[in-house]
Amino acid sequence: MVQLTLPKNSRITKGKTWPKPEGAKNVRKFQIYRWNPDDGKNPQVDTYFLDMDKCGPMVLDALIKIKNEVDPTLTFRRSCREGICGSCAMNIDGINTLACIYGLDEIKGDVKIYPLPHMPVVKDLIPDLTHFYAQHASIMPWLETKTNRPAKEWKQSIEDREKLDGLYECVMCASCSTACPSYWWNGDKYLGPAALLHAYRWIIDSRDEATGERLDDLEDPFKLYRCHTIMNCAKTCPKGLNPAKAIAEIKKMMLERAV
Ligand code: SF4
Ligand code: FES
Repeated sequence: MVQLTLPKNSRITKGKTWPKPEGAKNVRKFQIYRWNPDDGKNPQVDTYFLDMDKCGPMVLDALIKIKNEVDPTLTFRRSCREGICGSCAMNIDGINTLACIYGLDEIKGDVKIYPLPHMPVVKDLIPDLTHFYAQHASIMPWLETKTNRPAKEWKQSIEDREKLDGLYECVMCASCSTACPSYWWNGDKYLGPAALLHAYRWIIDSRDEATGERLDDLEDPFKLYRCHTIMNCAKTCPKGLNPAKAIAEIKKMMLERAV
């Protein structure tokens, strides 16, 4: 078996243990990945303790409390706090999910928090999503029309509109793509579950007039066909979506147009 060794500067070291809150009876331990590009040190895991009687119920509440009251240097993304903006995606207790809608009561024992896996890290819990967003842009995430553009409202039948259910709800959090082994190994060329779910969302839209071009673009051994139906995407999606099904629908359309 091949043995892989992490480069020295990637090895995670034991970090700082922050003091326990004084007088607290209901204390919980948090182990959080830290990496600062400016100090030249290896990544480390810091240990924090919080008084759970004074903390909100979600993982993001705990992170905000740590940042506000214990360690202002802890760095993470968040905005809406209700599972809509997709910015607080991280790996919590081994699962890629949204910190704002993941309850602390869903975790047994210590709370372990890391950035989304297999992505370059900007700082602490913030992954670099530049390539992920470029892949999303590459699938033309807009309505492409050539004829009959109505001046005002563009109606769809109820049935056509329903085809977008399970697709439009995606918040582009990247939890699915970064949970996918195919994306880990071939993320430079494989578009990954999130971008492909969006590709299907526009392919299936009854108003779009670029279906052929969209399918032509995806007819590629890497962009689409590196999906091996591993299903990690559907298992982890915090919005309950199924990118693997969308990918399977695209593959089916490829076959149908070939015969
Ligand atoms: S499909 Fe789900 S996991 Fe993937 S980016 Fe969209 S919301 Fe996030
Ligand atoms: S803060 Fe917006 S999805 Fe979590």
